[in-house]
Amino acid sequence: MEEVKIAEKKPAIVELEAGTYHWCKCGHSKGQPFCDGSYKTTSFTPLKFELVEKKKVVLCQCKHTRNSPYCDGTHKTL
Ligand code: FES
Repeated sequence: MEEVKIAEKKPAIVELEAGTYHWCKCGHSKGQPFCDGSYKTTSFTPLKFELVEKKKVVLCQCKHTRNSPYCDGTHKTL
């Protein structure tokens, strides 16, 4: 089975406006933590998520979280 690429072993802490976002799941995006279309060469697809209000979020960049798209601390074990 194809493995995800670890983009970084730490999360991205970003403040986002309300809206729809696409989190990079494959790890190949050059625009981490968001999708830039690089997944098309992999078997993965981005994860669409929505925020109903402006919010600071902690997004996984190691791509091993079990709570996508959010960091759950798994990066500390890699
Ligand atoms: S960055 Fe992936 S679990 Fe924290």
